[in-house]
Amino acid sequence: MALDTLGEVIARPREAGSLRGDLLVLPLLKGSKEIPEDLAGLLERGGPLQHLLDSGDFKGDLNKTAIVYGAGETFSRVLVLGLGEASALDGEKLRQAVATAARVGRDLSCKEMVFPLPIPGWNALSAIAQAEIATEAALLGTYEFDAAKAKSDPQRRLGRLVLAVPPQSDSAELDRAVTRGRVRARGTNLARDLAHTPGNLMTPTHLADRAHALGEESGFEVRVIEREEAERLGMGAFLGVAQGSDQPPKFIVLEYRGDASAPTVGLVGKGITFDTGGISLKPGPKMDEMKYDMCGAAAVLGTMSSLRDLGVKVNVVAAIPATENMPGPRATKPGDVHTSFSGKTIEVLNTDAEGRLVLADGLSYIARQYRPDALIDIATLTGAVIIALGHYGAAVLSNDDALCERIQAASARSGERTWRLPIWEEYPEHMKSPFADLKNIADGNAGAGTIAGGAFLAEFVEGRPWAHLDIAGTAWWDKDRPHIPKGASGYGVRLLLDLIESYAPR
Ligand code: BES
Ligand code: MN
Ligand code: ZN
Repeated sequence: MALDTLGEVIARPREAGSLRGDLLVLPLLKGSKEIPEDLAGLLERGGPLQHLLDSGDFKGDLNKTAIVYGAGETFSRVLVLGLGEASALDGEKLRQAVATAARVGRDLSCKEMVFPLPIPGWNALSAIAQAEIATEAALLGTYEFDAAKAKSDPQRRLGRLVLAVPPQSDSAELDRAVTRGRVRARGTNLARDLAHTPGNLMTPTHLADRAHALGEESGFEVRVIEREEAERLGMGAFLGVAQGSDQPPKFIVLEYRGDASAPTVGLVGKGITFDTGGISLKPGPKMDEMKYDMCGAAAVLGTMSSLRDLGVKVNVVAAIPATENMPGPRATKPGDVHTSFSGKTIEVLNTDAEGRLVLADGLSYIARQYRPDALIDIATLTGAVIIALGHYGAAVLSNDDALCERIQAASARSGERTWRLPIWEEYPEHMKSPFADLKNIADGNAGAGTIAGGAFLAEFVEGRPWAHLDIAGTAWWDKDRPHIPKGASGYGVRLLLDLIESYAPR
């Protein structure tokens, strides 16, 4: 469970005298030395705040902060918050800055932090858009996973964040923006919670139970295909991965009905609840991180559970093939051949390339069953993507330029970066096997590990416009960032929500 370190976020008009609290944020662009005119009512001129600004000690660099005491009657403290250069400021940098401020408010255990919006002197985004981003960022940045530990300080909490907007603002529109930000952050934090849950608890059965509960709460249908039915359906690629584990596999199918006449988007999330590598066993160091190998599934569940509350008028169908990847007497051996749901046969040369096997059946199941207008899979698929992009963006592999443009636009909105890699005609050649239709890894010295995964998956999409998101780098990191605390990031929820919303009929 996520710790509740931020009580609530509201938007309220900033009429002079009506606002008070224990922390006021003063967002400052780089180089500005003036208290902005529109904050005049909230702050006393002269005094310690003016001294700080005049001294030049505070430069306004992004995410730099200073706390000033005694700067006015109505606030016991002012948090000066640097935003960097006005020309470089964008939605993602605003997210970082707001998250930075919210964390200071939390660590000071403030009851009420007041944050003026829109940012004085910056109108690249509307006040409404800024309010959505600020809400999202504060809730993302104050996220903490409530680990199975006795310590945890209930006092360390920001009671309320008040977005102080100009008096003439449209309050209904603002409330909608705050709600949107809250729902998007909740979906992301849900994905983080699922990902952080250790492998002994986060079994395929537990994931399926969570999916059922979330479906009830959030208005989508959930059906689980058990092992016997998967056998009848011929899901040999999925079952081949599962056969080494004592935990029963669960092929989870989710359906959200947004609008009968609207397009349908299909999602597939990799749900390997623990990846030991199987018979091609992984080395020991850092193997614990393979509890995060269900981050694709977590992103799909975080997305699905946000759709109704965002009022999304698009149909979304999803599959989560969930299983452990374990060695054992029944496990798949290198050289074994399995027949996938599509009918194509696969020689498994490396049992550690298991993600593409379960996704293959997930993709062709959704493609055949629903013929979606777009088909997206999201998976912690290859260590190679970390070599290519580090932890700052996901790789996109796709058969459709128009879909890639939509993903690009969703990336820009959400701040969740993506970068497309090619599938040139040589790559699929590397995936051909002398013993089956395909093999699950490329030839020894072919390189391009992330592309090989994409080239393999492309064989299972049945002609649908498709994109694969390799999130092995973005799904978790041991480095703390303002709105992405270290650990599982929940990457993909906000990106997928923006992508799905782009299909809504206008
Ligand atoms: N789950 C891993 C990918 C992974 C590795 C994610 C490191 C995050 C950090 C995946 O199942 C895997 O083992 N991939 C192999 C593929 C190889 C055998 C072709 C890899 O990346 O080494
Ligand atoms: Mn693996
Ligand atoms: Zn894996």
